[in-house]
Amino acid sequence: ENDIIKGMPLFNKKVLITAGPTYEAIDPVRFIGNHSSGKMGFEMAKVAANLGAKVYLITGPSNQTISNSLIERIDVVSAEEMYNEVHKVYSSTDIAVLSAAVADYKPKNVADKKIKKSSDSMSIELVKTHDILASLGSIKEQQFLVGFALETNNELENAKKKCKSKNLDLIVLNSLNDKGAGFKKPTNKVTIIDKSENISEFGLKSKAAVAEDIFNVILNKMYA
Ligand code: CTP
Ligand code: CA
Repeated sequence: ENDIIKGMPLFNKKVLITAGPTYEAIDPVRFIGNHSSGKMGFEMAKVAANLGAKVYLITGPSNQTISNSLIERIDVVSAEEMYNEVHKVYSSTDIAVLSAAVADYKPKNVADKKIKKSSDSMSIELVKTHDILASLGSIKEQQFLVGFALETNNELENAKKKCKSKNLDLIVLNSLNDKGAGFKKPTNKVTIIDKSENISEFGLKSKAAVAEDIFNVILNKMYA
């Protein structure tokens, strides 16, 4: 490390970031997933590295690429794998930002052979996955813990509830009501709420700029 890195605000800090969707297997060729691209999490990882942090980027299946000597990319597929990898690094982390779109449910049983079509309808029994973010909140020590919330109604109230119930320091609310924001889009519009329920609203901007806004708020809360 050179002197430039040493002067950076997150020098010697460890940042854990989750990104992307998770895929929950139904059989060897099928899964339940979602449209998350991983872009927001990858932008968060870049900003953290540019601030001098060592970054653990734990990502579900994503086409995003990243190359930065401060970023260690850990690829996972399912919510359970993500949970396991997150818990391997959490205890030594200073900041954890969970931006992954984790599946809430997974198939109760995974067929070991491709399921054949038969009757006119079929159903798959689902069971809940671990809530990774809530699990980190419940064992939180020195970590500054940040979650995201995706809401379509009662946005602020639901986001505040999530912040409290998961023991977060900050929650980033994605405004889906804006046409330029969300999954597969290059831009995002967020509202950031802290644990004392202070609210900051931001305009529609690139996900890279949103990531910078989020880290500005994190640094202000941690060191102000
Ligand atoms: N999250 C997680 N593990 C899960 C589900 C969610 O870590 N199994 C995290 C997400 O990464 C996000 C936050 O929890 O940071 C909120 O996710 P969201 O889907 O908005 O909320 P949920 O708590 O899953 O509740 P619901 O989907 O019912 O609104
Ligand atoms: Ca969810």
